[in-house]
Amino acid sequence: MQKPQFVTLEGVEGAGKSTQKQVVCELLASRDIPFIETREPGGSPHAEQIRELLLAPSQTPPSDLCELLLMFAARADHIEQTIQPALARGHWVICDRFTDATYAYQGGGRALPAAWIETLERLVHPTFGPDTTILFDVPVDVGLARATQRGTLDRIESEDRAFFERVRASYHAQAASEPARYVVVDATPNADDVSQSLRETLTARWFS
Ligand code: TMP
Repeated sequence: MQKPQFVTLEGVEGAGKSTQKQVVCELLASRDIPFIETREPGGSPHAEQIRELLLAPSQTPPSDLCELLLMFAARADHIEQTIQPALARGHWVICDRFTDATYAYQGGGRALPAAWIETLERLVHPTFGPDTTILFDVPVDVGLARATQRGTLDRIESEDRAFFERVRASYHAQAASEPARYVVVDATPNADDVSQSLRETLTARWFS
């Protein structure tokens, strides 16, 4: 039997991650592969509390360093309490965002030094990381228009366009530097077309 995979989903706001996550889950369910769905920040009781702190709109937002440390504090708990136990039980883990989001948002968006993020990554998960990362790529204008239409934006989603251009550029750079791990999906077409091409790509990658 194939070793359980740790799969992460990434993208700028409005890229359709949540909709397409269901496609990944249905693909696994159709093959009777056990899996859990989880997310970051969050995914364990303490990490979900940290998520609330991180995303609540605030007139006095946390400092950028505080934000970075909270992302990794949540991640440390999430890995230990949720991700590792699921993999050990033989379940695949489908996770909405992981450390690549920190490189994109805190490193790209907030322009914090990559060396700080690398240090925290080495501390929190030195030898562990995703087997597959699916990047849903969409131009920032398209993504932001979709996210705004969807409803209220959280604190980080409320950043300006330039912030998200830096986030997207960071994702592109990460995908280019790790092509074996990354699956890049053009998320501009309508959701049904994106789902179809995602299904085909993942079936070829995992099951052929
Ligand atoms: P979500 O909207 O996909 O649930 O993600 C929550 C927000 O948190 C989103 O705006 C991206 C942001 N985020 C970071 O800034 N850094 C991170 O490391 C993670 C995991 C999420």
